[in-house]
Amino acid sequence: MKKFLDLITDEVTKAFVECGYDAKYAKVTLSNRPDLCEYQCNGAMAGAKQYKKAPIMIANDVAAKLEGSKVFAKVEAVAPGFLNLTLENAFVGEYIKEMRMAEKFGVEEPEKVREIVIDYGGPNVAKPLHVGHLRSAVIGESVKRISRYMGHNVTGDIHLGDWGQPMGLIMNELKIRNPELVYFDENYTGEYPEEPPFTISELEEIYPFASKRSKEDSEYKENAMACTFKLQSGVRGYRALWNHIITASVTDLKKNYENLNVEFDLWNGESAVHDLIPGMVDYMKKEGHAYLSDGALVVDVKEETDTKEVPPCMILKSDGAALYNTTDLATIMMRMEQNKPDELIYVVDKRQELYFDQVFRCARKTKLVNEDTKMKFLGFGTMNGKDGKPFKTREGGVMRLENLIKEINEEMFKKIIENRDVEEAEARETAKIVGLSALKYGDLSNQASKDYIFDIDRFTSFEGDTGPYILYTTVRIKSILNKYMENGGKVESAMIQAPVNQSEKQLMMELAKFNTSMEAAYEETAPHKVCSYIYDLANAFNHFYHETKILTEEDEAKKAGWIALLALTRDVLETCADLLGFKVPERM
Ligand code: ARG
Repeated sequence: MKKFLDLITDEVTKAFVECGYDAKYAKVTLSNRPDLCEYQCNGAMAGAKQYKKAPIMIANDVAAKLEGSKVFAKVEAVAPGFLNLTLENAFVGEYIKEMRMAEKFGVEEPEKVREIVIDYGGPNVAKPLHVGHLRSAVIGESVKRISRYMGHNVTGDIHLGDWGQPMGLIMNELKIRNPELVYFDENYTGEYPEEPPFTISELEEIYPFASKRSKEDSEYKENAMACTFKLQSGVRGYRALWNHIITASVTDLKKNYENLNVEFDLWNGESAVHDLIPGMVDYMKKEGHAYLSDGALVVDVKEETDTKEVPPCMILKSDGAALYNTTDLATIMMRMEQNKPDELIYVVDKRQELYFDQVFRCARKTKLVNEDTKMKFLGFGTMNGKDGKPFKTREGGVMRLENLIKEINEEMFKKIIENRDVEEAEARETAKIVGLSALKYGDLSNQASKDYIFDIDRFTSFEGDTGPYILYTTVRIKSILNKYMENGGKVESAMIQAPVNQSEKQLMMELAKFNTSMEAAYEETAPHKVCSYIYDLANAFNHFYHETKILTEEDEAKKAGWIALLALTRDVLETCADLLGFKVPERM
């Protein structure tokens, strides 16, 4: 469906051209004086020089030409040369009627379906999810949903950290604690047990313990590195133990991500590309990209235009071990083979920006990617506490994601029972749904690259730019529609009418921005644009609602028109909530 603003611009362009002025001056924008008009065009001012005319004369010509237009109810030329535009109600009503019937509310299928891989989540095996993982999951999931909605083929890959030093640390510690385990007996040739020799909570306790000790004790650290080496070089017992760690950890991670309404298509880890590394290294050497520097194998990635130092990309350490870089590059190679992506998007903490800059340059230079494959780093900022420092528990430790979710749900629960009379079990269920919206909207409504303050009181509020406010508004609409149906009304067959008052027209004009806003959110990889769209929409709806007695309206056709408008507003709000990764409850 053609964009609303384009239709308006087309009409103004026609008038400019018919008056003998260049089409380029016919640019229309939203009015910055909503008290005076709805849209405006400032092109007369820009054209004055070329036509050696006072801008107001140009504006007058165009305004006269637009007399009788079906798009505008009023076109005013105002000194020094503004064109103030007010839309015709019937034009607005027609557009919304069409939008309600259109597939995806008028979002068109893309000219070319793009293949996109999104690398997000990025948790590390055997480490509990903490709030730092939250942003990657929440933003990545939304970017995935938005891109899919726009008609593209999207694969979301979790890129588990499952192959590096942490694995060696855990195994080494397990070995110290339970030296008798068969996994460590290198002469053992039998089957390994099916049950893991640890629980997930033991595992989560072991990692921080081992990590701390390795920083204080160099012999301990060396032993851990030896374990990593044994794992990576394929020693049977170590692989079997590693499989247990992965299985236990992945089961736990799946449960956690499910609670967040986050779904990955691929659960590949760094380990998935282990066997590709030797081939990749040979290729990089053979093509002359990689060379030895102080024993390590590196690829230069600096460019003439660099203003800061960009160090070479290290492919192998001097002991021959692979690094974080190496697995990322090999993963790019694998994705190019399996998905043939037009674009790779990484949703990672922005502190890894320089790192990804090196990796991307290296992939480009060594031609691991096609020339036209885009690589995008979507770096996000830190979630801070109210003190402006990275978010911590009250005791000052790292906050586990589970606990953060619990806290928010508890707060939501309190607000829900304050708000209305409801059974505890139902209130708890609702609190979970609304709590997730509070958490996700609180995050997504900020531009991803910015730091933000996690403010539980603000995020869970039913008022203001929050998830609960959006849900509350949607639930309000659902309840009106339900009442209409209980009284025998049919929502589906109700027809949109031309707006009869200004707040209804305003609501329609907000709805009409849907396809434009979604396209911008997709093109700029910016879920916050979906948030600002629905916030404006929810405000416009509430304004209309407070000014209009909908269900008591006696004119049935008028009432049906409003009902149709409400149904469309509900559907658009629910669609957007889904794009942000949360749901709307039936009641609140
Ligand atoms: N596991 C990494 C970390 O915790 C994040 C992974 C990001 N993705 C990637 N392809 N490197 O820092």
